[in-house]
Amino acid sequence: MEYGELMKMAVTARQSAYMPYSHFAVGAALLCSDGSVYTGSNIENAAFTPTVCAERVAFFKAVSEGKRGFAAIAVAGGKEGEAPDALVAPCGVCRQVMMEFAFPKTFDIILAGSSENLQVYKLSEILPLGFGPENLGR
Ligand code: THU
Repeated sequence: MEYGELMKMAVTARQSAYMPYSHFAVGAALLCSDGSVYTGSNIENAAFTPTVCAERVAFFKAVSEGKRGFAAIAVAGGKEGEAPDALVAPCGVCRQVMMEFAFPKTFDIILAGSSENLQVYKLSEILPLGFGPENLGR
């Protein structure tokens, strides 16, 4: 799948964000190795810490449906009701979750700010020396 299309799905997923506290809507679209796509949006909580980012929602939806191979994830975020206006990169916890399920040297993270140009990073670039399943012999 073309990454521009994947980004469009991430932008659309922002519409489902539940973010009454931050008013910051994030959408993610996760491309699985089999070509299927799982979207996610951030889900906040009055107790704050149970909040889950869009990226993890997408991963957990896919993993819970049996998916195990992943190619790329597109992420778009910005103020509620506004177009994405700055690059939103995955938080550290989401990077660690990606490390569990994706190959760091091949998994692409696609980001978009206000421009049409997409920025693509490998997980190994944004999580150098990541601790992962291989460290535990898997
Ligand atoms: N958030 C995400 O969903 N993904 C990111 O990459 C950064 C932050 C969410 C968490 C919270 O609901 C809101 O954005 C503000 O931090």
